Amino acid sequence: MIRDQIIADLKETLEKIGVMGFEPTLEHPVQMEHGDYSTNIAMVAFGVKTGLLDKRETAIHSPFDLAQLIVNEYKKIKRDYLEEIEPVKPGFINLWLKTDYLSTELAEVLKAKESYGSAKIGQGKTVIIDYSSPNIAKPFGIGHLRSTVIGQALYNLYRFLGWKTIGDNHLGDWGTQFGKLIVAIKKWHQGETQGLQIEDLEKLYVRFHEEAEKDPTLEEEARTWFKKLEDKDKEAQKIWQDCIALSLREFNRLYQLLDVKIDFAYGESFYQDKMEAVINEAKKQKLAVLSDGALIIDLTNLKMPPFMLLKSDGGTTYQTRDLACIAFRKENWHPDLYLYEVGADQTLHFRQLFSVASKLGLGKPEQFVHIGHGLIRLPSGKMSTRQGKTVHLEEVLDEAVSRSEKIIDQGETGRGLTPEEKKEVSLAVGIGAIKYFDLGHHFSTDILFDWEKMFQLEGNSGPYLQYTYARCMSVLKKAAIGHEFFQKAPRAPEEIAILRTLYKFPEIVILAAQTYSPNLLCNFLFDLAQKYNLFYNKLSILKAENPKLRAQRLVLTAATSQIIKNGLNLLGIKALEKM
Ligand code: ARG
Repeated sequence: MIRDQIIADLKETLEKIGVMGFEPTLEHPVQMEHGDYSTNIAMVAFGVKTGLLDKRETAIHSPFDLAQLIVNEYKKIKRDYLEEIEPVKPGFINLWLKTDYLSTELAEVLKAKESYGSAKIGQGKTVIIDYSSPNIAKPFGIGHLRSTVIGQALYNLYRFLGWKTIGDNHLGDWGTQFGKLIVAIKKWHQGETQGLQIEDLEKLYVRFHEEAEKDPTLEEEARTWFKKLEDKDKEAQKIWQDCIALSLREFNRLYQLLDVKIDFAYGESFYQDKMEAVINEAKKQKLAVLSDGALIIDLTNLKMPPFMLLKSDGGTTYQTRDLACIAFRKENWHPDLYLYEVGADQTLHFRQLFSVASKLGLGKPEQFVHIGHGLIRLPSGKMSTRQGKTVHLEEVLDEAVSRSEKIIDQGETGRGLTPEEKKEVSLAVGIGAIKYFDLGHHFSTDILFDWEKMFQLEGNSGPYLQYTYARCMSVLKKAAIGHEFFQKAPRAPEEIAILRTLYKFPEIVILAAQTYSPNLLCNFLFDLAQKYNLFYNKLSILKAENPKLRAQRLVLTAATSQIIKNGLNLLGIKALEKM
């Protein structure tokens, strides 16, 4: 990658002038006029008084002087990629790449195709991604959409970079709430699960809480039933299993719609018989202490509340299961990295969990990462989140698909489509719009669903990218010649702008994975699509002035479409040939 090359060359240059021990960083200037890369290394090095400054006291009085010195030294060697390198006040160094050099990247894109942007940097390493993880007996709410969509994108990104990836859906299928649910089903549904829908389970659960306000003995009954469930009582187990089955039927339907596949779904209940071992280990290491009848791990020195291994009634907790889960994952997969894509409201839980896991020797702190996402809110109206109601994901997906149907019906884009194709396209555009809207926001921010923005064909949206891809494909299909034959001709500014964008894709993929930020990839794709559309509107491709120009523009079109497709694939969004 050119970035690595420039960093290596900068380091070599620094060594030559006696500035040691610095790791230069590169940025892409926001404005293209300021170059393709920029580094602040002269300012950093000048700030940290180096031995160099004493030796050359007469020549270097400012970061700019140092930048000038670095530039002069850098230029002494001929570098095939370098168009220009220049110091700018107060001490930045800007660097421009040769257009010819960038053109060679086009050939790379067309050669690598689906794998352009992939890398082997993760080879030999394993990452486990804990994502989606909805709760049994509750409808799949929009609360779990972000985890599902961001988690899947990270899974795809890491895999693309050569990591061994393991996805695990940590279903909420265990806990005292199942005692309540069993009581409710026995009392108000004759103990029958036949005919129950997931919404009914939710209602029964709510009813339990209402009635328990009036009659506290219900709570006691629920505890008894959860105990029975733990003791593998047949009746309790049957009701619980039926609830799981009917919830999974619903979840799987949604996963299918979302085109999400998660490798494993062990769920919390899987750790029933695995908690004892971690509890014993914590005792053995003298980390577990009794406190008011509960077994806890004290975290006062880290300024956190205690980690609860066993409650005073002897029951295990969400925390205990998560700890056992880490032990299991470690033993089973030896992951280098554990990623948890879970709402930011669980930040404290994960800080506690990771501290305890490292104390117990299950891993180093830096191996555990909580990617805490913000909330999704819906604007007021039919599906408002205002009243604190959970909004069902299915309603949201239905709305998205029906909006996309309308767009496709009204627009000229949908003309040549058969009814089946139309259906398929509406689904892909609707789901793509939702996913892109979610992924386009940094995970940590709260987002307000904005249907207009989500579907704007002229802005940063999923449909816009899909549309740009389809546009490229239609150009390529009409071209009688293959774009394989690669010709060089003078380039217009609109073409150069594309060239100066395309090559960044492999870098962005790495950065997005390393910072758990698929939104960086969204921004990149949007930028590329905009540049392509400017080019498309300004210059003739199929009717270019001469065959060389035509071939060159087709190659640009082919490379752009390939990168958009690879990017959308990573985001879990379908690239459509027609729409
Ligand atoms: N089921 C949980 C919830 O909905 C999320 C589980 C996240 N994963 C974990 N390992 N704790 O809140």
